[in-house]
Amino acid sequence: MHSSTIDSTSSKPELYKQLLAELAALIEGEPDVTANFANAAALLYHSLPQLNWSGFYLLKGGELVVGPFQGRPACVRIPLGKGVCGTAAANRRSLVVPNVHEFSGHIACDSASNSEIVVPMLKGNELVGVLDLDSPEFSRFDEQDREGLEAFVRVLMGGS
Ligand code: SME
Repeated sequence: MHSSTIDSTSSKPELYKQLLAELAALIEGEPDVTANFANAAALLYHSLPQLNWSGFYLLKGGELVVGPFQGRPACVRIPLGKGVCGTAAANRRSLVVPNVHEFSGHIACDSASNSEIVVPMLKGNELVGVLDLDSPEFSRFDEQDREGLEAFVRVLMGGS
C-alpha cells in the first residue's frame, strides 16, 4: 500500500518538491505507462488543494483521447486545436486559464470547473498528450503551478 507523506498545506514550491519526489518513488522501476499515469492522476488529485479533475488526454490517431484521471466522467475525444487541452497540445505550450468561461472554445466537462491548467507532454520531440487539471476556484493556477506541473510531467516522461 502506498502512504503519502505530502503536506497539502505547504507553500507551492515546497508542495511541488514533495510531489516530484513522491511521483519518482511511485513510478520507479514500473514500465507500464497506464499504471504510472493512473497513479500520477491520483497523486495530484489527492495532494493539490481545490481540484475537481486531474488527468490525461493522450494523442491517439491525431486527436486527444481521455486517459487515466480522477474526477467526474469527462468528454472522451478532443480534436487538436480545440478547447484548452487541444490548444495547449497543438501549440505544445502550457496554458493557464484563470476563468474558463472567458476562454473561447472551452469544452465544459464538469460544470463545477472555473479555472484550468493544461501542460503538454513530450517524449523527445513527440507529443504524447496533455496533463489537465480543473478547479472550481477562479484563478486557482499560477506560474508556480505551471513550473511545478511542467517539472512533474518531465519526471513522468522519464526525464528529471
Ligand atoms: N476543459 C477541457 C476539456 C477537458 S475537461 O476539463 C476534463 C478543454 O477545454 O479542453
